[in-house]
Amino acid sequence: MKNIHLICAARPNFMKIAPLYKAMKATSDLNPVIVHTGQHYSYEMSQAFFDDLGLPEPDHHLDVGSGTHAFQTGETMIAYEELCEKSRADLVVVVGDVNATAACTMAAKKLLLPVAHLEAGLRSLDRTMPEEINRIVTDSISDWHWTPSADADENLIKENIRPDQIRMVGNIMIDSLVMMKHAIDMAAAWQKYLLDPKEYGVLTLHRPVNVDDAATLARLLEAVAGAGVPMIFPVHPRTRKVLDTLPKTLLKSFILTDPLSYVQFISLVSEAKFVVTDSGGIQEETTYLNIPCHTLRETTERPITVTMGTNRLVKPETLAQSLQNPKTGSVPPLWDGNTASRVIDHIREILA
Ligand code: UD1
Repeated sequence: MKNIHLICAARPNFMKIAPLYKAMKATSDLNPVIVHTGQHYSYEMSQAFFDDLGLPEPDHHLDVGSGTHAFQTGETMIAYEELCEKSRADLVVVVGDVNATAACTMAAKKLLLPVAHLEAGLRSLDRTMPEEINRIVTDSISDWHWTPSADADENLIKENIRPDQIRMVGNIMIDSLVMMKHAIDMAAAWQKYLLDPKEYGVLTLHRPVNVDDAATLARLLEAVAGAGVPMIFPVHPRTRKVLDTLPKTLLKSFILTDPLSYVQFISLVSEAKFVVTDSGGIQEETTYLNIPCHTLRETTERPITVTMGTNRLVKPETLAQSLQNPKTGSVPPLWDGNTASRVIDHIREILA
């Protein structure tokens, strides 16, 4: 049995490792070992996803928790290095672009362990985003790059990654969506909020540039409040801290909730009229579900959601116009629910 470390840290990682874990568990040659670094630790941001996605308790918990970027990155490197000395990995799989993605890649590579990055090659070209730094660091030293779309392959080639290190495997988030489709369809989460299908919007905001400054957040909320339909707004803990300082009148058009579980959230998105977000993953999920998405950011590391999908980048002053002209789109190649099996095929080639 080959031991494959699956590194997860924060909310968007859990739906990326779940399909891989399940597909590997069904083999007789690959042993998936879940390593949770603990960047997200509250029930809503972590365990709720393990419960929904049917993941077992992590094999290893590094309990790193919150802190500055350097603190999180450094503590994760120290704790993961210690673990690697004790628990031998034949391959380390990192996903996405959170602090732990870069930290575990650095720790593993310095121990000469092979590392594969799932969701490699995405670039916003905006180095003020902490995630962009994590993407560049991770891709520059990983051995294998599993990409979701052709634009990611092109970015890696431009950065002198060898073509034989790159494999387009598709979008792993769509595997989770397909895997959970029945539960999502059964959830009908809008009923709980007394909403009618296609007559409400969903809002998420958590990027530092949008939520860390109260005046900026207030301006965004004013723009979104003009949408004219009820807006359900599951609030990220980072956003909550600033939201609590804003006048309550600004919030009257929103149905505020704590962070939602995966199934509840995707159920709400599936029947929404539209989504307004600054998330990365939600741009992809809305493209797959054919729900118009208005992304409150100046750049996206997922341009295929704009060129092929339902996504549009907007500013507060262009949101109203964008809402009036919702986009339709199509689903990019290999966003089909079979990414985990393509990853497993490649792992067998690598380890052969
Ligand atoms: C992180 C990722 C981002 C991802 C996002 C999704 C990085 C650089 N950023 O941002 O790419 O899109 O997760 O959620 O890795 N907190 C809680 N409970 C928790 C976790 C965090 O209350 O379970 C609080 C923390 O104390 C902190 C804030 O939320 O003050 C932000 O958490 P942090 O992990 O620093 O980054 P995110 O903004 O969540």
